[in-house]
Amino acid sequence: MQVNISHRKENVEDGRASIYQSVISNTSKEMSCFSDFPMPEDFPNFLHNSKLLEYFRIFAREFDLLKYIQFQTTVLSVRKHPDFSSSGQWEVVTESNGKKQSAVFDAVMVCSGHHILPHIPLDSFPGIEKFKGQYFHSRQYKHPEGFEGKHILVIGLGNSASDIAVELSKKAAQVFISTRHGSWVMSRISEDGYPWDMVLHTRFISMFRNVLSRFKIIRKWMMEQQMNRWFDHANYGLQPQNKHLMKEPVVNDDLPSRILYGAIKVKSRVIELTETSAIFEDGTVEEDIDVIVFATGYTFSFPFLEESVVKVKDNTVSLYKYMFPPHLEKSTLACIGFIQPLGSIFPTVELQARWATRVFKGLCTLPSEKTMMADTIKRNEKRIDLFGKSQSQTLQTDYIDYLDELASEIGAKPDLLSLLLKDPKLAVKLYFGPCNSYQYRLTGPGQWKGARSAIVTQKKRILKPLKTRALTTSSTLLVSFLLKILGLLAISVAFFFQLQF
Ligand SMILES: Cc1cc2nc3c(=O)[nH]c(=O)nc-3n(C[C@H](O)[C@H](O)[C@H](O)COP(=O)(O)OP(=O)(O)OC[C@H]3O[C@@H](n4cnc5c(N)ncnc54)[C@H](O)[C@@H]3O)c2cc1C
Ligand SMILES: NC(=O)c1ccc[n+]([C@@H]2O[C@H](COP(=O)([O-])OP(=O)(O)OC[C@H]3O[C@@H](n4cnc5c(N)ncnc54)[C@H](OP(=O)(O)O)[C@@H]3O)[C@@H](O)[C@H]2O)c1
Repeated sequence: MQVNISHRKENVEDGRASIYQSVISNTSKEMSCFSDFPMPEDFPNFLHNSKLLEYFRIFAREFDLLKYIQFQTTVLSVRKHPDFSSSGQWEVVTESNGKKQSAVFDAVMVCSGHHILPHIPLDSFPGIEKFKGQYFHSRQYKHPEGFEGKHILVIGLGNSASDIAVELSKKAAQVFISTRHGSWVMSRISEDGYPWDMVLHTRFISMFRNVLSRFKIIRKWMMEQQMNRWFDHANYGLQPQNKHLMKEPVVNDDLPSRILYGAIKVKSRVIELTETSAIFEDGTVEEDIDVIVFATGYTFSFPFLEESVVKVKDNTVSLYKYMFPPHLEKSTLACIGFIQPLGSIFPTVELQARWATRVFKGLCTLPSEKTMMADTIKRNEKRIDLFGKSQSQTLQTDYIDYLDELASEIGAKPDLLSLLLKDPKLAVKLYFGPCNSYQYRLTGPGQWKGARSAIVTQKKRILKPLKTRALTTSSTLLVSFLLKILGLLAISVAFFFQLQF
């Protein structure tokens, strides 16, 4: 197993993920925590990267994990042991402080991430060789200092592009953001001020979307309605080309307002660069560009594995349920985290790890190679239908459906029907409330006694960091409470009369 935890660094290191100082999570704390360890109540709902790291540190301490982690160690190769077909073992060569070591492992989880190798498609930007300004990939970006008064062109419209464009637009003379396909942009804040993922990731909404999404026209209409509720994307030049695709949205509260202020101007695809300017698909030209930031995403590879084990082609890998190479004689290698769910990655990889360890121990078995291959092909077709073919979407998955699928493999998926009889209050929360990770600790292996309580007390932990000013109950609250009671009474009376006649 390979583990590598570090803090955010000022310098960019090859082979390691790199983020800018200001990164704030775009998935909320209650939807991003591990299933048996809620984040501290006073943590904000969306976390600065240093707070997220603090959570991982508290988690590691709580479960006494540090003794299992060998820091500052690079995995150079993972090869099948000569008797792999009978033992399923792997020979792993590592390097630490210039010293190589070899060891044999019974199983391997590959957790090397997919945000390390920059995708910087210079071939698609004719004239880049003539460009006299500075250009770099978004992973090189750390902070806005040094960009004062510049004219900056940011390429791409993912979360990196949006965060960086917004931040730079506060210092630069002008920021342009160039997008070829557009994106839906969402706020972190949803109904009644709750985090977006707590409102959108419910079993009820997921079921509703699954039923309706069989009809493309309805899916497109629903998506437009939902996404344009905040502002009309067409008016801001952001509207996606394929409006029905569930491509990962941008979660950014500031982007629309920065566009409204004119600090960011949205442009179409760049067709050519000159020494100092950018020419766009619509024929417009922006002169005096000083800096180009390629926020064009990432690619990935497994240099320590043989191609016969895992092969990457066009930024995709053929893995059963995004985890297991289907053709191994023994199921003793799993890839964890080679996925981009529409919700938080952390509960997703936790369930992946729970399944992988049970497969390694022989407590769960994988189907035949043929079945796994057929599933992988079908899943890929569905992915393209839902999310499109773009390089940024090759690892994209649904959220709740995928979590449930993994949980079913280990017997941890909650049974809503039997719960409705035993504990209706909880069943209602599970169906209509946020699909948080605690749901997968209610039953099955790894059951956690605190899961029910974590689910019913969730709202308290969301509101706690917001309640920094004591308020006395006002009469308006009382009136609104009374109106709600009257409303409920009216519905009950109407329902009663409907039953009578
Ligand atoms: C700016 C940014 C913000 C994000 N925000 C969110 C968010 O709010 N919510 C969310 O759910 N997701 C978010 N994501 C996505 C999420 O961060 C990543 O998906 C997550 O970090 C993946 O974790 P990981 O452990 O799989 O990979 P990583 O965090 O990339 O870790 C992989 C580790 O493996 C190490 N490694 C690689 N090769 C080797 C080797 N040969 N030997 C030893 N070590 C090796 C690397 O150095 C690295 O430390 C964000 C991503 C980015 C880039
Ligand atoms: N605050 C946060 O939490 C935060 C911040 C940053 C990143 N992240 C996460 O990190 C992951 C990576 O995000 P990312 O924004 O770095 O990458 P990304 O999501 O892959 O987005 C890449 C962008 O580059 C564009 N692009 C790619 N190739 C291009 C080309 N040849 N020409 C023009 N445009 C091109 C893509 O456009 P098309 O759509 O047209 O292909 C897309 O808009 C995501 O999961 C994201 O959510 C989170």
